[in-house]
Amino acid sequence: METKKENLSSKNMLGIVTARRAIRNFLPKEVEQEKIDYILECVRLAPSAVNFQPWYFYIVKSKEAKAAIYQSYTIGNIKGDPMFIIACGDSTKSWKRKIDGKDFIDVDVTIATEHLVLAATEQGLGTCWLAHFNVEKLKELLEIPEHLTPIALLPIGYPQTELPKQPERKSVEEIYKVL
Ligand SMILES: Cc1cc2nc3c(=O)[nH]c(=O)nc-3n(C[C@H](O)[C@H](O)[C@H](O)COP(=O)(O)O)c2cc1C
Repeated sequence: METKKENLSSKNMLGIVTARRAIRNFLPKEVEQEKIDYILECVRLAPSAVNFQPWYFYIVKSKEAKAAIYQSYTIGNIKGDPMFIIACGDSTKSWKRKIDGKDFIDVDVTIATEHLVLAATEQGLGTCWLAHFNVEKLKELLEIPEHLTPIALLPIGYPQTELPKQPERKSVEEIYKVL
């Protein structure tokens, strides 16, 4: 199915996923607490293996904690001083599949975090998944306990009005096969 204009609305899934973009430039405008609460409610309802919910989120607002983020994420492409969310996995809670020992921690935290990203988009906010950071440095600087592993950093705030162009995606035909 082609993305047709009449299928896009801020109230439907296609409209929200189309509006979502990696946002790295933010306006100097604080995110309202009601919006944070709404986003966290969407996060909380995410599914997880055996419903173990092996996630924990740090909401980073202070100058000191943001400095720790910038010391572990050194690319320097986040502009406008947004707040951040650190999405962590809890290895004491995650489900490990018996037959092969696979740990579903990343899968579960990623599902919850994408709920966060899409809820933020629906609320008119911008976010960006960030993975190019030094996990050990961040844990040390923020005194994150041993059993929690930061999986992604997400700046969150009001995007600069000009949204980046939608990057190319594979066509639908390229991504599936009927068996
Ligand atoms: C797991 C993951 C890690 C990413 N890490 C970074 C990152 O460290 N820095 C960055 O600027 N963008 C990062 N991105 C953003 C991607 O570059 C971006 O999502 C991709 O280019 C597609 O663009 P779009 O999100 O606007 O559709 C990451 C995205 C994902 C899903």
